[in-house]
Amino acid sequence: MAVVNGHGATMAGAGADPYGTIRDVTILIREGVIDWIGPANLIPVDAVSSAREVVDLGGGWVTPGLVDCHTHIVFGGNRAREWERRLEGVSYQQIAREGGGILSSVLATRNATTDQLETEARVRLNRMIDHGVTTVEIKSGYGLDLQNEMRMLEVARGLSDLGVTVSTTLLAAHALPPKYAKNRGGYVDLVCEEMIPFAAGAGLADSVDAFCEGIAFTVNECERVLLAGIEHGLSARLHADQLSDLGGAALAARLGARSADHLEYTSEAGAEAMGEAGCAAVLLPGAFYFLGDGQKPPIDALRKHDVPLVVATDANPGSSPTVQPLVALNQACVLFGLTPAEAIAGMTRLAAGVLGLEDRGVLEVGRRADLACWNIGEPAELAYWVGGLPAQAVISGGRRIR
Ligand code: NIG
Ligand code: FE
Repeated sequence: MAVVNGHGATMAGAGADPYGTIRDVTILIREGVIDWIGPANLIPVDAVSSAREVVDLGGGWVTPGLVDCHTHIVFGGNRAREWERRLEGVSYQQIAREGGGILSSVLATRNATTDQLETEARVRLNRMIDHGVTTVEIKSGYGLDLQNEMRMLEVARGLSDLGVTVSTTLLAAHALPPKYAKNRGGYVDLVCEEMIPFAAGAGLADSVDAFCEGIAFTVNECERVLLAGIEHGLSARLHADQLSDLGGAALAARLGARSADHLEYTSEAGAEAMGEAGCAAVLLPGAFYFLGDGQKPPIDALRKHDVPLVVATDANPGSSPTVQPLVALNQACVLFGLTPAEAIAGMTRLAAGVLGLEDRGVLEVGRRADLACWNIGEPAELAYWVGGLPAQAVISGGRRIR
């Protein structure tokens, strides 16, 4: 396959050209991998004419396929009624304490058939692919028992037949099931001693995650969960400091987690610990926007301590009901002050790092041929249009999927 007649934002750049621009680019793809990339005038002419398939950019741009590294797109029902209540003045935390919030999605998810879960998640992922996604991470966390958590992970794994890479994360420590209200330790035992070993043993999860928050799990409980995951060969992530500062960022850093996510209430010390540990910050401006809390992540401190700034949709029914990756880029710029180049790097190269998928996220010889082609005049447009814009072509592993 050859991609011709446009420009490339390789995202391998730095300094004055953070996009790593190649004007008038040609890309040759062989066996799912980028075989050649450079200015069209440097390529032997017959290399393009002998390509079996040619993708014409029509003067537009090609970027690495987008990597949405934090989503919860497998769930039953929706929470529109709860959102109405929030606008009537009830807080997200109050709704959670009343047994709504995450727990209402747990009920709807448990009550949904596997077919329903799959069909609805497929619609969501198809929308993401329309908008340039070639790698997605999907979390469990609306099952909260062995059978339903595994069912969510199985549904997530099955979505890879859409032609994209699906990375799965066990988030059984997302909320405390009411049955364990008087036995918190018992639920954490169940997560550590049954769910993690099962998910890891069956190859259903790549990572483990936990929600470190007043309405969810304590620092000590999250530490147990993450350590159990690491012991079973999973990489660790953490929902940290979203609604209050429990020191989640520092915990993620101390345990060697790949990322701490959300971070609205993270202190400078937390940002510093992340920088020292090489723990990435996954910014989720969609949840910040939709919950309307007003407290922003400490972007300057994260920059100062060289913490990689990653951007994801957090697509979920409660705090970020969106499946539009480019909207998250726009929100990261408008709400958090990232530059468009920072935001795009945060949903390509740096997001791939969070998933441990270093074979992608930049356009470079030898990398997996995951590409998104756009009808735009300059790369900043990817973050500029409010509401996003569909990709013109999407290529995953050298195969055209849009
Ligand atoms: O990332 N913070 C915790 N989990 C999700 C929200 C889940 C929900 O409200 O259903 C998040 O925002
Ligand atoms: Fe989340």
